[in-house]
Amino acid sequence: MITIDCSALNVVVVGGTSGINRGIAELFASQGASVVVASRSQDKVDDTVAALTELGAKKALGFAADVRDYDALEQGLKATAQVLGGFDVVVSGAAGNFPALVNGMSPNAFKSVIDIDLLGTFHVMRAVYPLLNKPGASVINISAPQAQMPMIAQAHVCAAKAGVDMITRNLANEWGPSGVRVNSIIPGPIAGTEGMARLAPTPAAIKACENSVPLKRFGEPSDIANACVFLSSPLAGYINGAIIPVDGGWLHGGMAVVADGIGKMMFPQQ
Ligand code: NAP
Ligand code: COA
Repeated sequence: MITIDCSALNVVVVGGTSGINRGIAELFASQGASVVVASRSQDKVDDTVAALTELGAKKALGFAADVRDYDALEQGLKATAQVLGGFDVVVSGAAGNFPALVNGMSPNAFKSVIDIDLLGTFHVMRAVYPLLNKPGASVINISAPQAQMPMIAQAHVCAAKAGVDMITRNLANEWGPSGVRVNSIIPGPIAGTEGMARLAPTPAAIKACENSVPLKRFGEPSDIANACVFLSSPLAGYINGAIIPVDGGWLHGGMAVVADGIGKMMFPQQ
């Protein structure tokens, strides 16, 4: 494993208490950063903070907030930034997903994903900007392949994550002059995650999905975490407004094939 000294970085990972985002928080912690995590469940926050401390975080903090609740989110971010002395790295990755056809989705179902993924990202961006250490801060939005390619039973996620990537591009323009870089990462299918459990719920779907990735394997949370550490290092100092797939090449065709196939497995009426 390559070691990158992150001990000068104060990092916040919103939605950082499980799956990919927790993997990101853990890598920064193991490289000596101070790390804050936030999500809805206080139990998950406490468990993650204990693990980050164990891994070697300089400081590990957390707070419970729903990204749909702007006031709670802003209050948690302000309080933790005050303890650490501002944020150098922000990862915004809270998301919700369930497979549902448009014709089988209530307006509130569509809205719930828009509110978590898209409005939630806006909330994180809006609340965190005054707390960034400028110039030099790195902001990373966790997007999804659905932002770029339609997928059966994913209209809500496709719309929300496409919006997330447009927020990234707009903020790259608006915040670039103050020395803040804003980028998106598009993870491919990542092993052992809640997202994949929902989208590829059977052994047949998992196999089809693995086969559709040019590298012939699922990614690991550490693949996404490595990209986040890179984006927050001086090596990435001129990368701003980029939408970066970390997906084994999935978006170049394999995703389209499997997305259609899995959708039809789950919704044969399609
Ligand atoms: P996950 O394990 O379900 O993680 C979601 C995280 O967000 C949890 O920490 C969850 O904690 C938190 N969260 C959910 N709703 C929230 C809310 N309303 N307010 C605050 N926090 C909230 O998911 P994952 O599969 O690892 O996915 C992580 C990210 O990667 C997502 O942005 C997803 O779209 C993206 N992605 C995943 C994959 C994949 O293969 N899994 C592929 C492409 C993109 P609480 O339950 O405590 O709130
Ligand atoms: N199909 C159709 N509609 C669904 C659904 C499904 N599989 N699952 C939920 N919904 C609908 C609900 O019925 C509700 O609509 P209604 O009020 O018209 O009945 C709406 O979505 C909101 O559901 P609710 O359970 O009240 O929302 P919540 O805010 O408690 O939870 C979710 C948000 C639904 C996204 C939930 O799955 C969640 O918290 N997910 C986080 C973890 C996750 O998704 N990880 C993967 C990330 S890629």
